[in-house]
Amino acid sequence: MIRPRVVVDLVPGASPAPGARWTGVAIDVLRATSTLTQARENGAARIVSFADPAEALAFRDANPGALACGERGGRIVPGFDLGNSPFEYVRERVEGRALAFASTNGSRAILALRGCGTRWLGAFVNASAVVRALAGAPLVAIVCAGKEGAFALEDAACAGWIVQALLDSGAEAGNDAARLVARVGPRAAGEVRALVEGCDHARTLVPLGREYARDVAFCATLDAIGAVHSF
Ligand code: MLT
Repeated sequence: MIRPRVVVDLVPGASPAPGARWTGVAIDVLRATSTLTQARENGAARIVSFADPAEALAFRDANPGALACGERGGRIVPGFDLGNSPFEYVRERVEGRALAFASTNGSRAILALRGCGTRWLGAFVNASAVVRALAGAPLVAIVCAGKEGAFALEDAACAGWIVQALLDSGAEAGNDAARLVARVGPRAAGEVRALVEGCDHARTLVPLGREYARDVAFCATLDAIGAVHSF
């Protein structure tokens, strides 16, 4: 029997883009894929990602009902409808809407996986649901958003949580990054919170204001959402 295979990129673009036979998981724990999971949980119809905020605005303006969403420097982009806080994405704002999403790093992870036949948003807030959704997938590519081309601990740790679970159920690690993250992924919910709250990105978000500290706490809550959503 052929074992399922999981590969990881610690930053977008580290490997050639996976194609249609692959299941892709984009991870930007702080905050894009946590926020977008919340948005889809609250009924957002679809996510269209852009590297450039101007493209998101153009999409919003050409598509009635769409919302322009995302951030630069952690703050809402001028002219956008929503920023990058999960608490903005309430049902009343997003249900049935297309989200034209442009964030600094999360969008890059999402775009790196656009060729995959199946595409999931992954974060600690829905990590167990991601693992369940990946059961039976023969080829899994996980892309961590990182931070402006550099490694980000919270994304690698979340990838590690997912990879550990896949290896435990018989998958094989298909590259060194998958082998690495499997060794550093947290094992318990309490470890997740401490790890996310202590990482560099959290340390830049929290001083921006109390609502950012609330975002970090939410993004550090393992399995706050029991479902997995596509992008
Ligand atoms: C990103 O995509 O770069 C992040 O989600 C930034 C943020 O925390 O707003």
